[in-house]
Amino acid sequence: EVVREWSGRLQLEQTLSQHLHIKEVIIVPGDVDTNTNAAMLLSQEAAKYLESILSDEKIIAVTGGSTIASISNFVQATTKWKQLLFIAARGGVGKDVALQANTIASLFSNKMNGSYRTLYMPDSLSEEAYNTMMKEPFIQEMMDLYERTNIIIHGIGDAVEMARRRYTDENEIDRLKEAGSVSEAFGYYFNEQGEAVHRIRTIGIQLKQLTHIEHLLAVAGGAKKAKALLSYFKQAPEQTVLVTDEGAANEMIKII
Ligand code: G3H
Repeated sequence: EVVREWSGRLQLEQTLSQHLHIKEVIIVPGDVDTNTNAAMLLSQEAAKYLESILSDEKIIAVTGGSTIASISNFVQATTKWKQLLFIAARGGVGKDVALQANTIASLFSNKMNGSYRTLYMPDSLSEEAYNTMMKEPFIQEMMDLYERTNIIIHGIGDAVEMARRRYTDENEIDRLKEAGSVSEAFGYYFNEQGEAVHRIRTIGIQLKQLTHIEHLLAVAGGAKKAKALLSYFKQAPEQTVLVTDEGAANEMIKII
């Protein structure tokens, strides 16, 4: 059943937050897959939520993707915060610079008078390179910042779509499918039960570090992402706030 009344939407938000076992679900009208206005509303709502939880000296980690990139357009330009630090939650995604966490961290920081730290690094490192990089002092500093992160803003994607966007080779895509990957976030791939079954070997925030972050802001919409959202939220930290749209929300309700 399609719920369009505002009162119905509140009900839907509550039902979903209970079902997904998270703090809050915020739903904007429409579906980002088919409606650019819905995409704008999604970003606007996420920006508003972010502004409501900011205070001085916060460390904010951001992931990549088109959804998170667009949020930076909707935060108000301000100099009121003293020391915001925006950091890339991990190395780059694919070849599109505009959608990389690094670029997005700098966009937010320019808008909000903060500073930023980037992590330029191939998307997929060999095991040897990964182990060597992890010993580098500047990586250790990033790891320390991840430990002290107060807010993370992240997208959630469909596993195979994200793998293709990263030009993952067909063998690896087959392995991802065999492992039952349904969703992707922070470079981790999750199965239907929400278990991390694969990780891109890049430097970035670790799943276990998420659990002690005060605010997790997940932003993802569109009916096409419903399965991915249900997969990721099987085991997501319960302090997460999800900003989504009616398209994804109604589709999730149909499946559950
Ligand atoms: O991790 C998932 C991606 O960030 C989602 O990307 O916002 O472009 O769909 P997207």
